[in-house]
Parts: sequence; C-alpha cells; structure tokens
Amino acid sequence: MIIGGSASQDLASHVAKELGEEICYVETKKFPDGERYLRIDGQIEDEVTVIQSTGYPQDENLMELMFIVSTLKDLGAKKVKVVVPYLGYARQEKRFKDGESVSAKIICNLIEAAGADEFITFNIHEECVLNFFDIPARNLSAMPAIAEYLNKKIFKKSNEKPLIIAPDKGAYGFAQEISEIIGCDCTYLTKVRLGPDKVETRIVDVRCDSESENTVNIDSVKGMHAIIIDDIIATGGTIVNAINILKQYGASAVDVCCVHPILTNNGATRIYAAGAGKIIGTNSLSSDTSRVSLAKSIADALRE
Ligand code: R5P
Repeated sequence: MIIGGSASQDLASHVAKELGEEICYVETKKFPDGERYLRIDGQIEDEVTVIQSTGYPQDENLMELMFIVSTLKDLGAKKVKVVVPYLGYARQEKRFKDGESVSAKIICNLIEAAGADEFITFNIHEECVLNFFDIPARNLSAMPAIAEYLNKKIFKKSNEKPLIIAPDKGAYGFAQEISEIIGCDCTYLTKVRLGPDKVETRIVDVRCDSESENTVNIDSVKGMHAIIIDDIIATGGTIVNAINILKQYGASAVDVCCVHPILTNNGATRIYAAGAGKIIGTNSLSSDTSRVSLAKSIADALRE
C-alpha cells in the first residue's frame, strides 16, 4: 500500500502503478486557526510506504509527514517505510556556529520518533545525515534515471557525445556516474561560497590535481554540448557561474541537470538568461523542470 503526501502525489501514484500496489488517499485540511486536520481514508495494511518530500513549505510538509506516519502506526500498520525524495533541512548537518540547531539531526529524530521503520531518500547533500537514524536508511542515486533521460531525449537521434561538467568538486561523483553510463568524458570546476546566495567559480587545472585522473582539461569544452550536473539548484548562482565559464570556453550548447530543483529567487530565469538550453530536474520536487521521474528507482528500491 502506497500513500502520497501533498508534496509527492504524482510521484506516489506512479510508484504505485510501477508496483501494481493500491494507493491510499489522505484527506487533509486546515482549521480556521491554521491547525492541520488529517484523515487516512482506507483500510490500513500491515506494510505501508509513505512518499512525501519535505521541500518548501518545509514545516508544513514535515508536519504532514509526521501526522501520516504516526497515524498509520496508531491504526495498526506494522511496518512503515518512509520515502522522502528531497529531505529539507539536510544541509545543516553540523553546528557551523556556536548555538546553532543541528536541523538535520532533529528532523531525522522526528521522522523516526513518528514511527518510521525504514527511510529512503535521494542524493542527500551530506551522506552522514543518515547516521542520525537508528532505523535502516538508504541514499539512492538519481544519476541512472538522469542519464537514461539524457540518452533517450537529448542524444537519441545523434551520435554526439556530451561533456559532463560538475560545477564544484562535491558534484564530481555525479558527473562521473553519468559519464560512465553515457560513455563520455567529464570534468569539474571549483567553487568558493562567499555567502548563501553568492559563489565564485574557478577553473581547475586538472594537470595539477592528482585526484583528477579521469577529468579532461577545460579547453576540451570548445564546440562541445556541455551538460552540467549538480544535486541541488537553489538560487542558481552556482550554475550561472558554470554556464558563463563554459560559454567563455566555447561550449556549443549547455543544458543543466539536477536532482532537486528547488529553484528559488528566480533561479530558473537566471539560468535561462545565462544561456542554458534546458533545465532538467527530477520530480523529487514538483516544478516546471521536473522532467525525470524517480518512480522506477523508488519502486526498484521498495522491491529489494
Ligand atoms: C552545494 O554545494 C550544492 O551542491 C549546490 O551546488 C548548491 O546548493 C546550489 O546552490 P545555488 O543554486 O544557490 O548556488
């Protein structure tokens, strides 16, 4: 039995279809004072999977998830698997300044306390966040789904091989994963974050970086179709910088891929204005750019 929270209804219905499982409906509304009402409309089975991302509005979506999981347990579900394709608050996995809340830890503790027996997410910003759980917790990769989309929709008709670019070293693993599947080269840029919405991007001289045996020099971007891949696009600052460099070095076209298209502060507009052809995100979050479905990856993980 699959339940989709308000933030992941479409994805949940596709996962149910993939698995041939029943979808169970949730009735939710707000009282005049703003408090939430929630009712699970169906006969609860022993094993239930709840799918709900906790992006914007984070607190609303999180509270709804707590209500669903806890109610399922109250109503007799023996095992509740919780799939949170995008886990909000995961970027504060430690105390950067004295006195800060370690939000990621609090969120994991809450999900577990609500009654989750298993947790699944996608490309979580810091994998160590999963250590805050005592229940089994898995971090799936959206890269195979993104690579399949690129192969089918972007490079289907041509033998053209793109160059995969990570906009910072943290994203280089994603670029490697995709380039291995597609069978093309990849490289990365380096990024210095100057503030929440300000980053500076530099070119790496790969010849001086002993860890980058598989990378190609930035000069090879000339005349190539470049695909930028990152886990998250928030304000778009990271991606705009990367596009500017790729254009400067002669890329013939630039498309942008990400797992979690947060796209806040006119992020998408700024990326298109910088010259991107397409922004290709997954449906971990619903947006105009959510072209890649995670339904099959989730269904496969639930079958294991
Ligand atoms: C951070 O390192 C992440 O991988 C992303 O690069 C970052 O969250 C993107 O943020 P923005 O779009 O605001 O530059």
